[in-house]
Amino acid sequence: MNIHFVTDEKIAETSSKGNQEKWKDGNRWYKLDQFGYEALAESAVSCFLEQSNIETDTSFHFTHYRMERMNVHGRDRTGCSSENFLRPGQSIITLSRLFRKNNIDLKAALTRLPSDIRRVSYLAETTADLTGLRDFPRYLALLFEVDALFLNDDRHLNNIAVLEQDGCFDYCPIFDNGAALLSNTQISPMDIAPKALISSVRARPFNTTFNRQILSARKLYGSQLRIRKFSRSEIRDVLQPMLSYYAQRDRGIILDRVNSIVVRQVSLSASSHNLRPLAALKKLSSRRALFVYLLIFVIYNYSK
Ligand SMILES: Nc1ncnc2c1ncn2[C@@H]1O[C@H](COP(=O)(O)OP(=O)(O)O)[C@@H](O)[C@H]1O
Ligand SMILES: [Mg+2]
Repeated sequence: MNIHFVTDEKIAETSSKGNQEKWKDGNRWYKLDQFGYEALAESAVSCFLEQSNIETDTSFHFTHYRMERMNVHGRDRTGCSSENFLRPGQSIITLSRLFRKNNIDLKAALTRLPSDIRRVSYLAETTADLTGLRDFPRYLALLFEVDALFLNDDRHLNNIAVLEQDGCFDYCPIFDNGAALLSNTQISPMDIAPKALISSVRARPFNTTFNRQILSARKLYGSQLRIRKFSRSEIRDVLQPMLSYYAQRDRGIILDRVNSIVVRQVSLSASSHNLRPLAALKKLSSRRALFVYLLIFVIYNYSK
């Protein structure tokens, strides 16, 4: 286990830079756990995303995080680190800043819109217009799919960003999944069963359900994320080295939570793939639909 020593001057927490205490040292950013096991969430999500199509089949990227043990002001703390994704001369512009700079009251604009689908398309397409990033809508759909899969409820408009250099824009690697996997143990206490917690988490930035947010984005821009299914033993193998940074009594609970969250991926991908057959059935008259339902029922039962 690495121990990274930090001197007093290195701690540079600013409220404009998010919630967790963080600082840049050399070419890496370091973040300390604050409300629970954020570092494990960051590291595990980036490990799972390595098994996805993001960096192989799309032009988008994600930030890779790794666990760190740090001695901060004389105390051993757990956190994570990631390589600085900014190239020299580049800056990160969060969507809240981008809209403010263009004198758009984003909150008011979104509140005026009547549905999730209209809000997703407004955010996606206005950002594409302001930056010239024509694929931004697909980037946003991908981001919402990642959030839904890992239950990240912290995708506010400072955690969605673009990169800028001399007036030219680029896609920002997906960053800050620290609130995923129910990591905030103050909001998601360790003694509450994962199932109850999972059903109460709301998706940001639109404060809706994860299903509605991804269905809206997929309906508009298609499904972007391809990721293979993980078995319980694969999840355990990914988590095992990360769990050693946390108290023994919490390890089993964290693993159980991550299992409960990640196995939902079957129903999340099913919900989009099932859309087309269901929509087709809805178009049939009710007698024909009943006949088709019965046929499916009989075939299903006889094939068992
Ligand atoms: N790997 C990185 N490369 C470049 N900037 C980073 C990196 N990690 C964090 N930052 C900077 O810190 C800000 C906050 O990081 P974030 O991961 O959102 O922290 P928090 O969990 O506290 O919200 C980002 O908007 C960015 O400015
Ligand atoms: Mg953040």
